[in-house]
Amino acid sequence: MKLPEHIAIIMDGNGRWAKAKGFPRSYGHVVGCDNLEKMCDVIFDMGIKYLTVYAFSTENWKRSINEVGILMNLFRRYLKRLLNRAKKDSIRIRVIGSRVGLAPDILKIINELEEKTKNYTNMYFQIALNYGSRDEIMRGVKKIAEDIRLQKISPEDITEDMISKSLDTGDIPDPDLLIRTSGEQRISNFLLWQLAYSEMYFTDTAWPDFKKPQLMEAIEAFNGRDRRYGAVK
Ligand code: FPP
Repeated sequence: MKLPEHIAIIMDGNGRWAKAKGFPRSYGHVVGCDNLEKMCDVIFDMGIKYLTVYAFSTENWKRSINEVGILMNLFRRYLKRLLNRAKKDSIRIRVIGSRVGLAPDILKIINELEEKTKNYTNMYFQIALNYGSRDEIMRGVKKIAEDIRLQKISPEDITEDMISKSLDTGDIPDPDLLIRTSGEQRISNFLLWQLAYSEMYFTDTAWPDFKKPQLMEAIEAFNGRDRRYGAVK
């Protein structure tokens, strides 16, 4: 079976999963976070080199103060734990998204995590936090516009590759497979440029219930599509 080199995941459905079981939404996020740790092990143990997950979108700030606070506390604890895991298996961690609006202590943890793992090359783990794809593209366009203003390049020099490189994911390959859990069939402002040629896999399973067997089903579907349509890229 052919493995995707890069999997991107929209980890949706924590809130609904918890509610259906009679728990508060926040419990769904705690279990979702737990599942992310487990699935990271599963994915990297399988030999998949790149994993990108959508943890918090620029739109998620509109949720209740209570829920945002709980999510931020989860990120704090999770990101702190991640350093040891990254060291163990030489995983480079990159937090993609806007840094504007994140609490100073979270920014400090992110900077430390990125700095301490920057030379690791075994696996690459991207966490989209305070992320919106249109915001990322806008920031990339501004970088290119600045190079034009400084006369480093002229507008005719702009290439697709240059735009790709201006994004937060600039130095990694695009995802081969996007997985979205919990029934919605939308991209929700996630990796709009990078997903141009990716296979999409949508499942009704909520993120806390998405385990290795469900991942294998997604990879099998990815393989099936490969066979039908010929080799991807
Ligand atoms: C979607 O569920 C999930 C989120 C908004 C956050 C994803 C967060 C985690 C999986 C937990 C922690 C992650 C990290 C990186 C520590 P939802 O609340 O939109 O569920 P719903 O669609 O059922 O309301």
